[in-house]
Amino acid sequence: MYEKEQTKALQENTTKWLLAVNKESTANVTIQLIEDLRDVLRFHEYRYYVQNDPLISDAEYDALYKLLEKFEKENLSLITNDSPTQRVGKGLVNNFPKVQHLVPMLSLENSYNATDLLDWDRKAKELSGLTEMEYCVEPKFDGASISLIYDNDKFNRSATRGDGITGDEITLNTKQIKSVPLTAKFSSYGVEQIEIRGEVLINKSNFKKYNDKLMEEGIPPFANPRNAAAGSLRMKDTAEVSRRNLEAFLYHVSYITTTDNRQPNTHSGMLDMLWNLGFRSPKKEMIVVKGIDKVIRHVEEFENKRDTLPYEIDGMVIKVNDLQLQERLGMTSHHPRWAIAFKFKARQATSKLLQVEFQVGRTGAVTPVAKIAAVAVGGVTVTSISIHNEEYINEKNLMLGDTILIERSGDVIPQIVKSFIELRNGDETAIQFPTHCPVCNHLLFKPEGEAVWRCININCKAQVVERIIHFVSKDAMDIKSFGEANVRKFYELDLLKDVPGIYSLNFDTIGNLGGFGKKSLENLQAAIGSSKTQPLHRLIYGLGIRYVGETTAKTLANAVDHLLEFTQFSEEQLLNLEDVGVKVAGSIYRFFHDEENLQLLQRLESLGISLKNQKKQVNLNDALTGQTFLFTGSLSKLKRSDAEAKVEENGGKIVSGVSSKLNYLIVGDDAGSKLEKAKKIQTIKIISEEDFIKMLPA
Ligand code: IVH
Repeated sequence: MYEKEQTKALQENTTKWLLAVNKESTANVTIQLIEDLRDVLRFHEYRYYVQNDPLISDAEYDALYKLLEKFEKENLSLITNDSPTQRVGKGLVNNFPKVQHLVPMLSLENSYNATDLLDWDRKAKELSGLTEMEYCVEPKFDGASISLIYDNDKFNRSATRGDGITGDEITLNTKQIKSVPLTAKFSSYGVEQIEIRGEVLINKSNFKKYNDKLMEEGIPPFANPRNAAAGSLRMKDTAEVSRRNLEAFLYHVSYITTTDNRQPNTHSGMLDMLWNLGFRSPKKEMIVVKGIDKVIRHVEEFENKRDTLPYEIDGMVIKVNDLQLQERLGMTSHHPRWAIAFKFKARQATSKLLQVEFQVGRTGAVTPVAKIAAVAVGGVTVTSISIHNEEYINEKNLMLGDTILIERSGDVIPQIVKSFIELRNGDETAIQFPTHCPVCNHLLFKPEGEAVWRCININCKAQVVERIIHFVSKDAMDIKSFGEANVRKFYELDLLKDVPGIYSLNFDTIGNLGGFGKKSLENLQAAIGSSKTQPLHRLIYGLGIRYVGETTAKTLANAVDHLLEFTQFSEEQLLNLEDVGVKVAGSIYRFFHDEENLQLLQRLESLGISLKNQKKQVNLNDALTGQTFLFTGSLSKLKRSDAEAKVEENGGKIVSGVSSKLNYLIVGDDAGSKLEKAKKIQTIKIISEEDFIKMLPA
């Protein structure tokens, strides 16, 4: 999309603008100056959201963005609809007027195996009179479909699929998707008006983060990223849409008016055009092949790669590549004859809801868990599924004995999609919610405005045990070889009563219990010992403060030198921390003003557990000291900002470009020019994300 020369000029301009931040006066701002800054911002949005290869830090982008906002605020008449500032949600309320698509949004015919594809290819050859067809094969993105209309290079309107003829106008929400350009030079291809179709997605890692946050707040999660994407597009609050980090793949031109003949005449050419104009089309994910045999081989290979992709796909789409031929083949009222979907094996299955058990978690929340007839979904046998809370049971209209549809997408926990009410025979019974704690028999309580019933007996055995299990778990203090079973066993035998008790276990007694070899006992003792110096964020997460997940724990750890400093924080100060809202701030405040919690922290400290932010100490013998690092392409395990933070935490430095000063280039998927450049400099070590993770201290 950006030529070499343009990139160079924009990089130079970026430097100029970065130097101007804070200094620039708004008095003599001209339209040219504002447009120049907008171009710089658009360029960096493209590098970040489309190419996954940013050239400046988030903080630098924010500074430039704020400067543009300042210019515009004082020169309101110079604001244009395509300014990068006009994407941002301002909390406007949408009410989604209905709009008609320029061309009906049809569905696709499905195929499930090689025979289906051979049949379809035979028919396509018969209809076109050819002996061999050229196909474009691309992923079938599993999200929510949208259409976009551009008029004279400007983004004009966007709509959901709706009934295929009319959809909901969601232009404001679509503007929150940063990979959708607000202007695109279609005129350079002789295009006046164009309607493009695509799919809006939430990638797997953002989806998981979002669902974890919902569950932390006691809200049932989305069953899959598709539902989350579709739900997000229909949100009333555009600012919330923006926070959800939606992405869009554009894969089809459905309508076009032109001034001349400069447009591509193949589907793959159209994907190239979209890519060149700054859209995220599946240019890099598609292949063009001749003959159905190669198609079959490719779709089968791709199915094996399905879980390694950062987003969900539910199959592949095979399209006749020649656009004239597409027109000749035409459509039925349901689907085009020039395309077919190849559906991957389902990640849904039906089962029976046999009974419901009620589990008490570490916060006292009573969670109903459905026990279902064993069924294989997505390669895993599922026998129980959390059904979250009473409201959820009512909403999904679940009864014991129901036939249910379950889904397990990717590494997401299994969910019940629905019950088949039409299959009921009258033997089904209602799910009874208990009035008393199933573990300690204390009366249950439901705070106003919440959906979750809680056992409020802080000494309830279930809660104590779950708190200890959480504390030793992998994402918290990571005390290896402790595990759930040992916590339960030691608790039952009265050897362990609470979290600090972990650090005063009597190993002689445990040794005499039997079942522990000398070596395993030594390992357990060593793991407990070394957990005393775990980074502060792990301890904070391990404490199980309500609404404090791993991300918030990191934010909190970075805000202090010693954990007990939080006893001095006001709720307002807590609210100033990133991603800490009113509910979270209140919970943290209460935790650090509760006498029992403070005693617990003091006991932990006296037992040798570090409550300090040890960053500075770790630096003394840092693993990456003095080395420079640069990331390129998309990483699959770490978020780029987390990976960069890890470099800095461990004494390394992030540099912005490839030069002889660079020691390590970490290469993710779809790495581009940086990789090529680095290959030419022999001193640079080019390593994978896995190699990088191995360099970090365990
Ligand atoms: S082409 C006129 N290409 O799958 C045909 N569709 O099950 C336009 N989908 O409604 C569709 N990935 O929402 C096409 N690469 C892709 C796709 C794709 C996902 C969706 C689309 C369609 C549905 C049919």
